[in-house]
Amino acid sequence: MTTRTTKLPCGEAVPVFGLGTWKMGEAQSRFADEVAALRLGLDLGATLIDTAEMYADAELVVAEAVKGRRDGLFLVSKVLPSNAARAGAIAACERSLKRLGTDRIDLYLLHWRGGVPLAETVAAFEALKAAGKIRHWGVSNFDLDDMDELEGVPSGSACQANQVLYNLARRGIEFDLMPWSRKRALSIMAYSPVDQGALARSGKLDAIATRHDATAAQVALAWTISQAGVIAIPKAVRPRHVRDNIAALDIKLTPQDLAELDKAFPPPQRKRPLEMI
Ligand SMILES: NC(=O)c1ccc[n+]([C@@H]2O[C@H](COP(=O)([O-])OP(=O)(O)OC[C@H]3O[C@@H](n4cnc5c(N)ncnc54)[C@H](OP(=O)(O)O)[C@@H]3O)[C@@H](O)[C@H]2O)c1
Repeated sequence: MTTRTTKLPCGEAVPVFGLGTWKMGEAQSRFADEVAALRLGLDLGATLIDTAEMYADAELVVAEAVKGRRDGLFLVSKVLPSNAARAGAIAACERSLKRLGTDRIDLYLLHWRGGVPLAETVAAFEALKAAGKIRHWGVSNFDLDDMDELEGVPSGSACQANQVLYNLARRGIEFDLMPWSRKRALSIMAYSPVDQGALARSGKLDAIATRHDATAAQVALAWTISQAGVIAIPKAVRPRHVRDNIAALDIKLTPQDLAELDKAFPPPQRKRPLEMI
């Protein structure tokens, strides 16, 4: 696998590709297959895994997959807004650490904006960082107004990433949030990069896929990670999908491909509220 990285604002390099885990850990009957999918991804060279306390028992799936190979991996988890007050966030992080079977989370995100003042959540994140329980923190589903507000709270500019819905069919952030983030070297983690499978089936990517001897999903992924500062985190349980997604890192889209994609999936011409799944 080609190791491609981008830099967090702190200067640390992180891979532009990671393994998503939403919908994992929901059924004991699928547990072994989900662990195997993550292990396959790691065997093929992936080093970043994205999970959350919200995703049923996905953190337990991750724990099983990373057992004995934690070092060198970059684990991302998320705190629910309902747990994001100071004491609540610290307790939630402790629970996630226990479920993940690790002593540190590499990047800890506020899953989406809730009713807790941002300053309080940031204070909890900074305390967790000082205690070595998390190495970095960030946010998720934050639109530009939320990011502006975050920047204004004490230590708010220590935010390393914003995880948002971003793929060929959902390009709204390119109008404002993405340029704003790039100015600050803030990473964008693109969730649902194959639009939950819809881009694989849309038919709009087939001609380009054929030119690259690839699949439509691979073209969608290659496009997402061709954007500077973007980290894509597709979720895949089927081994074929895991292999294809990692192989997509080697696809180089041409200017002609990119122009055709812009025609099929036009970039935004005006502000669109951030979409969320
Ligand atoms: N922060 C947030 O609020 C938020 C929200 C949503 C998602 N996320 C994160 O982002 C990750 C990815 O998003 P997502 O799971 O919503 O959507 P996604 O990764 O765009 O799509 C996952 C779906 O696409 C299929 N798929 C994966 N690779 C494929 C390929 N190469 N060809 C054809 N189909 C393929 C998967 O099938 P199989 O599983 O059957 O292989 C699964 O059904 C999540 O797992 C989660 O970690 C975060």
